[in-house]
Amino acid sequence: MAFTEVCKTNDLDDGEMKKLVLEGFDILIARSGDDFFVADNKCPHMGGNLSQGTLEGTIITCPVHHSKFNLKNGEVIRWTDFTGFKLTIAKLFKSPKPLKIYEIKVEDDKVFAELPY
Ligand code: FES
Repeated sequence: MAFTEVCKTNDLDDGEMKKLVLEGFDILIARSGDDFFVADNKCPHMGGNLSQGTLEGTIITCPVHHSKFNLKNGEVIRWTDFTGFKLTIAKLFKSPKPLKIYEIKVEDDKVFAELPY
């Protein structure tokens, strides 16, 4: 795998995120302060479009069932916003899975990511 340029550093403001389609992959690019993140754009729960969600610091919330993931490492912070029995059933049908995060590097004003193609 090689690093691919995904954006320029000034393409995103702090707290902004965008969806990109590169070689058929839906990729999310996000910025928090001076840090950039590249992840799968499809939510590991049921494929929600994460770029339509919200970003607070490095925590992204899916717009569909409001699962939360940390863009630093893909960690599941919350698996859906279901509670009680509904959450138990949701976890049985689809066990919590981290968000895929891609390695990035910033050189000059360009952001590169190591994408799976
Ligand atoms: S599709 Fe993202 S939380 Fe369900």
